[in-house]
Amino acid sequence: MDYYANLNRRQAPPRPNPVNEEIMLNKKDYIVSRTDLKGYITYANDYFIEISAYEKDELIGVNHNIIRHPDMPKLIFKVLWDRIRAGDKVFAFVKNLRKDGKFYWVLAEVEPAKNNGEIVGYYSFRVRAPRHALKEITQVYAKLLEAEKEGGMKASKELLDNFLAKKKLTYDEYVQKLFKKGFGFGGFLRGFGNIFS
Ligand SMILES: Cc1cc2nc3c(=O)[nH]c(=O)nc-3n(C[C@H](O)[C@H](O)[C@H](O)COP(=O)(O)O)c2cc1C
Repeated sequence: MDYYANLNRRQAPPRPNPVNEEIMLNKKDYIVSRTDLKGYITYANDYFIEISAYEKDELIGVNHNIIRHPDMPKLIFKVLWDRIRAGDKVFAFVKNLRKDGKFYWVLAEVEPAKNNGEIVGYYSFRVRAPRHALKEITQVYAKLLEAEKEGGMKASKELLDNFLAKKKLTYDEYVQKLFKKGFGFGGFLRGFGNIFS
Protein backbone atom coordinates (compact mmCIF):
# COMPACT_ATOMS: atom_id res chain seq x y z
CA MET A 1 0.00 0.00 0.00
CA ASP A 2 1.25 3.47 -0.84
CA TYR A 3 0.74 5.40 2.35
CA TYR A 4 1.70 8.74 0.89
CA ALA A 5 -0.02 8.76 -2.49
CA ASN A 6 -2.08 11.82 -3.27
CA LEU A 7 -5.66 10.86 -2.64
CA ASN A 8 -8.57 12.93 -3.79
CA ARG A 9 -7.77 16.12 -1.95
CA ARG A 10 -10.81 17.70 -0.40
CA GLN A 11 -11.50 21.02 1.21
CA ALA A 12 -11.62 20.65 4.99
CA PRO A 13 -14.96 21.62 6.57
CA PRO A 14 -15.10 24.96 8.42
CA ARG A 15 -13.26 24.70 11.73
CA PRO A 16 -15.35 24.72 14.91
CA ASN A 17 -15.29 27.60 17.35
CA PRO A 18 -12.74 26.81 20.06
CA VAL A 19 -14.03 25.74 23.47
CA ASN A 20 -11.67 26.28 26.38
CA GLU A 21 -11.67 22.67 27.51
CA GLU A 22 -8.66 20.39 27.39
CA ILE A 23 -8.66 16.72 26.49
CA MET A 24 -5.71 14.84 27.98
CA LEU A 25 -4.02 12.15 25.97
CA ASN A 26 -3.47 8.78 27.60
CA LYS A 27 0.10 8.40 28.78
CA LYS A 28 0.78 5.26 26.79
CA ASP A 29 -1.09 5.94 23.57
CA TYR A 30 0.30 7.76 20.59
CA ILE A 31 -1.16 9.48 17.59
CA VAL A 32 0.10 8.67 14.10
CA SER A 33 -0.71 10.31 10.80
CA ARG A 34 0.76 10.35 7.35
CA THR A 35 0.33 12.97 4.66
CA ASP A 36 1.13 13.53 1.01
CA LEU A 37 3.64 16.18 -0.04
CA LYS A 38 1.18 19.01 0.56
CA GLY A 39 0.13 17.90 4.05
CA TYR A 40 -3.13 16.21 3.05
CA ILE A 41 -3.88 13.31 5.38
CA THR A 42 -3.49 9.86 3.84
CA TYR A 43 -3.51 7.80 7.04
CA ALA A 44 -4.77 8.26 10.60
CA ASN A 45 -4.38 5.69 13.36
CA ASP A 46 -7.31 4.82 15.63
CA TYR A 47 -6.08 7.02 18.45
CA PHE A 48 -5.88 10.06 16.15
CA ILE A 49 -9.49 9.44 15.13
CA GLU A 50 -10.56 9.06 18.75
CA ILE A 51 -8.73 12.13 20.07
CA SER A 52 -9.61 14.46 17.19
CA ALA A 53 -13.28 13.43 17.49
CA TYR A 54 -13.52 13.23 13.69
CA GLU A 55 -14.55 10.17 11.72
CA LYS A 56 -11.83 8.50 9.68
CA ASP A 57 -13.59 9.50 6.45
CA GLU A 58 -13.59 13.12 7.53
CA LEU A 59 -9.82 13.12 8.08
CA ILE A 60 -8.55 11.22 5.05
CA GLY A 61 -8.01 13.49 2.04
CA VAL A 62 -8.13 16.83 3.86
CA ASN A 63 -5.23 19.03 4.88
CA HIS A 64 -3.73 18.47 8.30
CA ASN A 65 -4.68 22.02 9.15
CA ILE A 66 -8.20 20.66 9.81
CA ILE A 67 -7.05 20.43 13.45
CA ARG A 68 -5.09 23.69 13.50
CA HIS A 69 -5.81 25.67 16.66
CA PRO A 70 -5.97 29.49 16.46
CA ASP A 71 -3.67 29.72 19.51
CA MET A 72 -0.81 28.25 17.46
CA PRO A 73 1.63 30.82 16.06
CA LYS A 74 2.05 30.56 12.27
CA LEU A 75 5.79 30.65 12.76
CA ILE A 76 5.89 27.21 14.38
CA PHE A 77 4.35 25.66 11.26
CA LYS A 78 6.81 27.56 9.09
CA VAL A 79 9.70 26.13 11.14
CA LEU A 80 8.12 22.70 10.80
CA TRP A 81 7.64 22.88 7.02
CA ASP A 82 11.09 24.40 6.40
CA ARG A 83 12.67 21.53 8.27
CA ILE A 84 10.76 18.64 6.76
CA ARG A 85 10.92 20.01 3.20
CA ALA A 86 14.69 20.16 3.65
CA GLY A 87 14.61 16.44 4.50
CA ASP A 88 15.06 16.73 8.29
CA LYS A 89 12.81 15.71 11.14
CA VAL A 90 11.45 18.19 13.64
CA PHE A 91 10.04 18.14 17.17
CA ALA A 92 7.31 20.59 18.12
CA PHE A 93 4.74 21.22 20.80
CA VAL A 94 1.36 21.62 19.12
CA LYS A 95 -2.05 22.61 20.45
CA ASN A 96 -4.73 20.98 18.33
CA LEU A 97 -8.42 21.69 17.81
CA ARG A 98 -10.92 18.84 17.96
CA LYS A 99 -14.13 18.60 16.01
CA ASP A 100 -16.07 19.60 19.12
CA GLY A 101 -13.89 22.70 19.59
CA LYS A 102 -12.02 21.28 22.61
CA PHE A 103 -8.22 21.17 22.49
CA TYR A 104 -5.35 18.77 23.18
CA TRP A 105 -1.61 19.32 23.43
CA VAL A 106 0.96 17.02 21.93
CA LEU A 107 4.66 16.69 21.47
CA ALA A 108 4.98 15.86 17.78
CA GLU A 109 7.82 14.46 15.78
CA VAL A 110 7.27 15.13 12.09
CA GLU A 111 9.47 13.51 9.46
CA PRO A 112 9.79 13.15 5.73
CA ALA A 113 9.18 9.69 4.28
CA LYS A 114 11.78 8.94 1.65
CA ASN A 115 11.97 6.52 -1.23
CA ASN A 116 15.45 6.19 -2.77
CA GLY A 117 16.37 9.48 -1.14
CA GLU A 118 13.39 11.33 -2.56
CA ILE A 119 10.73 12.77 -0.25
CA VAL A 120 7.41 11.07 -1.04
CA GLY A 121 5.32 12.32 1.88
CA TYR A 122 5.46 13.03 5.61
CA TYR A 123 4.49 11.30 8.82
CA SER A 124 4.13 12.20 12.43
CA PHE A 125 4.08 10.54 15.86
CA ARG A 126 2.66 12.37 18.83
CA VAL A 127 2.59 11.76 22.54
CA ARG A 128 1.08 13.59 25.47
CA ALA A 129 2.89 16.85 26.17
CA PRO A 130 4.08 16.91 29.80
CA ARG A 131 2.57 19.56 32.08
CA HIS A 132 5.94 21.02 33.09
CA ALA A 133 6.68 21.77 29.42
CA LEU A 134 3.25 23.26 28.73
CA LYS A 135 3.59 25.75 31.57
CA GLU A 136 6.44 27.33 29.66
CA ILE A 137 5.42 26.70 26.07
CA THR A 138 1.95 28.24 26.44
CA GLN A 139 3.61 31.49 27.54
CA VAL A 140 6.13 31.39 24.70
CA TYR A 141 3.42 30.75 22.10
CA ALA A 142 1.17 33.47 23.53
CA LYS A 143 4.00 35.98 23.09
CA LEU A 144 4.71 34.77 19.56
CA LEU A 145 1.03 35.04 18.67
CA GLU A 146 0.85 38.55 20.05
CA ALA A 147 3.93 39.56 18.06
CA GLU A 148 2.38 38.02 14.94
CA LYS A 149 -0.83 39.97 15.38
CA GLU A 150 1.11 43.19 15.64
CA GLY A 151 4.00 42.71 13.25
CA GLY A 152 3.35 39.51 11.31
CA MET A 153 5.71 36.56 11.09
CA LYS A 154 8.73 38.82 10.81
CA ALA A 155 8.03 40.04 14.35
CA SER A 156 7.40 36.58 15.82
CA LYS A 157 10.52 35.20 14.11
CA GLU A 158 12.63 37.97 15.61
CA LEU A 159 11.20 37.20 19.04
CA LEU A 160 11.79 33.45 18.74
CA ASP A 161 15.29 33.90 17.29
CA ASN A 162 16.28 36.17 20.20
CA PHE A 163 14.75 33.83 22.76
CA LEU A 164 16.59 30.81 21.32
CA ALA A 165 19.86 32.68 20.78
CA LYS A 166 19.95 33.45 24.51
CA LYS A 167 19.55 29.75 25.21
CA LYS A 168 22.00 28.82 22.43
CA LEU A 169 19.47 26.31 21.12
CA THR A 170 17.52 25.65 17.94
CA TYR A 171 13.73 25.43 18.33
CA ASP A 172 14.03 21.68 18.01
CA GLU A 173 16.69 21.36 20.70
CA TYR A 174 14.68 23.64 22.96
CA VAL A 175 11.58 21.45 22.54
CA GLN A 176 13.49 18.26 23.31
CA LYS A 177 15.19 19.82 26.33
CA LEU A 178 11.89 21.08 27.68
CA PHE A 179 10.34 17.68 27.18
CA LYS A 180 13.12 15.88 29.03
CA LYS A 181 13.28 18.38 31.89
CA GLY A 182 11.23 17.19 34.80
CA PHE A 183 11.38 13.50 33.98
CA GLY A 184 14.76 12.97 35.58
CA PHE A 185 17.54 10.80 34.27
CA GLY A 186 16.35 8.03 31.99
CA GLY A 187 12.81 9.33 31.97
CA PHE A 188 13.09 10.60 28.45
CA LEU A 189 14.09 7.22 27.10
CA ARG A 190 11.46 5.38 29.09
CA GLY A 191 8.68 7.73 28.17
CA PHE A 192 9.46 8.49 24.61
CA GLY A 193 12.48 6.83 23.09
CA ASN A 194 10.76 3.53 22.39
CA ILE A 195 8.32 5.35 20.14
CA PHE A 196 10.58 7.78 18.40
CA SER A 197 13.91 6.06 18.13
C1 LIG B 1 2.94 14.91 8.85
C2 LIG B 1 2.35 16.24 9.24
C3 LIG B 1 1.66 16.35 10.43
C4 LIG B 1 1.08 17.55 10.82
N1 LIG B 1 0.40 17.61 11.99
C5 LIG B 1 -0.23 18.75 12.33
C6 LIG B 1 -1.00 18.81 13.52
O1 LIG B 1 -1.11 17.86 14.29
N2 LIG B 1 -1.65 19.98 13.79
C7 LIG B 1 -1.55 21.08 12.99
O2 LIG B 1 -2.17 22.10 13.31
N3 LIG B 1 -0.80 21.04 11.87
C8 LIG B 1 -0.16 19.91 11.53
N4 LIG B 1 0.61 19.89 10.39
C9 LIG B 1 0.81 21.17 9.63
C10 LIG B 1 -0.36 21.50 8.73
O3 LIG B 1 -0.16 20.87 7.47
C11 LIG B 1 -0.47 23.03 8.51
O4 LIG B 1 0.72 23.54 7.96
C12 LIG B 1 -0.76 23.79 9.81
O5 LIG B 1 -1.90 23.27 10.45
C13 LIG B 1 -0.95 25.29 9.59
O6 LIG B 1 -2.02 25.51 8.75
P1 LIG B 1 -1.88 26.52 7.55
O7 LIG B 1 -0.68 26.06 6.76
O8 LIG B 1 -3.17 26.42 6.81
O9 LIG B 1 -1.67 27.86 8.18
C14 LIG B 1 1.21 18.70 9.97
C15 LIG B 1 1.91 18.59 8.77
C16 LIG B 1 2.49 17.38 8.41
C17 LIG B 1 3.25 17.29 7.11
